[in-house]
Amino acid sequence: MRMLVTGGAGFIGSNFVRWIFERGGTSFGDHRIVVLDALTYAGNLANLDGLDGNYDYRFIRGDIRDGELVKQLFAEEKIDTVVNFAAESHVDRSIMDPLAFVRTNVEGTQVLLNTARDAGVERYLQISTDEVYGSLGPTGRFTESSPLKPSSAYSASKTGADLLVLAGFHTHGMNTMVSRCSNNYGPYQFPEKLIPLFITNAMTDKPLPLYGDGKNVRSWLHVDDHSHAIMLILQGGRAGEVYNIGGAPESEKENVDVTHAILKLLGKPESLIKPVDDRLGHDRRYAVDYTKIKNELGWQPEVTFDDGLASTVRWYQENESWWKQIKSGEYESFYQAYYGDRLRA
Ligand code: NAD
Ligand code: TYD
Repeated sequence: MRMLVTGGAGFIGSNFVRWIFERGGTSFGDHRIVVLDALTYAGNLANLDGLDGNYDYRFIRGDIRDGELVKQLFAEEKIDTVVNFAAESHVDRSIMDPLAFVRTNVEGTQVLLNTARDAGVERYLQISTDEVYGSLGPTGRFTESSPLKPSSAYSASKTGADLLVLAGFHTHGMNTMVSRCSNNYGPYQFPEKLIPLFITNAMTDKPLPLYGDGKNVRSWLHVDDHSHAIMLILQGGRAGEVYNIGGAPESEKENVDVTHAILKLLGKPESLIKPVDDRLGHDRRYAVDYTKIKNELGWQPEVTFDDGLASTVRWYQENESWWKQIKSGEYESFYQAYYGDRLRA
C-alpha cells in the first residue's frame, strides 16, 4: 500500500509505522508510508528516529486541515490508503480547550475525507475510540452496535468524526472504515496519560495524582496488538464497517490496581499515591467486545497486561532522555494549570 499516515509522530501512529517496518516484516507486504503530522505538543519526531533513509518512508510537517497540502501529497505520492491517527487525544485537555478538539478531530477529518474522495483514494481508516460509547456500569461490554453516548468534548468530537467518515461511505460510496480501540499503552506514549504519567512521576519520586476513588476501569490494549489489528482491517476490513479493538478481559483493570502494579515494578512506595479531586464527567468503566474483528479477521490481543506493563516500564527506564525532554516547557504549564490546585488541596 501507499499510505498516508496522519498523526504518525504521535504515540500510536509512530508505533504503527515502526510496527509495519520493524516488526510486521514482509508478511504484511511492502508499503510506502508518508507521515503527515503538525507536530503539536504531542507530536515528536524523535518517535520516528531511525526510519528515515532505512525504509520506504517520508515525513511531512503539516496540518490535516490544510486541504491544498493534502491534495498535493495524494497526487505526488499516489496515495491509495489513508490511516487517520491525527487528533487532539487527551480528555483532560478537552475540558480546558474543547475548540481545539473540534478543529482537528471534526474539521480535520472532513478535510481529509473531501480530499481523499476527490483523489479517488482506495481506502480510508479512521482511528477512533471506545469512548464514543460513553460509560458502562459494572457489567457488559461495548459492541459495534452499542449506542453512541460520548461524555467529554474529546469523545464527542471523535464521535462526530466517526459519523462523518461513515457518511462518506453512505453518501459517496467511499471505502471508509472506523476502528474503535480501548486505552492503549506501550513505548513513546506522551506522559500525560495515566500509565506513562505515573511511571515517570514515580521514577522521579513525584506524587501520582489518582482521580476520585481510583476505581474507574479501563481495558488496556498494548499498542503492538493495536497495530496488528489496524493492518488486518486495512487488508480485509469491509467498507462502511466499524471494528472494535479491545484489551483481553483480564486487562480490564481499576486505575488503583494499575497504579500499584507500576509502583511494584519500579520498587517505589505506595505513599507516592495522591488521591485528588475527580476529573469532571469522569467515565466510570470501559470494556470492549472484540468478537467481530476476531470472527471476521482473526484478531485477538496477544500481549498480556503483566508482560506489556513490565516492558513498558522498562522502556521508560531505558529512555529517560526521551521523556525528560518532553516534561518541560509547555508540559510544565499544562501540568501546573491542570494539577496544581488538585495536588495542593
Ligand atoms: P497523540 O496525542 O499521541 O498523537 C496525536 C498526533 O496527531 C500528534 O503527533 C500530533 O502532532 C498530531 N496532530 C494533532 N493535530 C493535528 C493536525 N491538525 N494535523 C496533523 N497532525 C496533528 O495521540 P495517540 O494516543 O497516538 O492517538 C492516536 C489516535 O488514536 C487518536 O485519533 C486518538 O483519538 C485515538 N485513540 C487513542 C487512544 C489512546 O489510548 N492513546 C485510545 C483510543 C483511541
Ligand atoms: P487517561 O490515560 O487520561 O485515558 P482516558 O481518560 O482516555 O481513559 O486516563 C485513564 C484513567 O486514569 C482514567 O480513568 C482517568 C485516570 N487518571 C488518573 O486517575 N489520574 C491522572 O492523572 C490521569 C491522567 C488519568
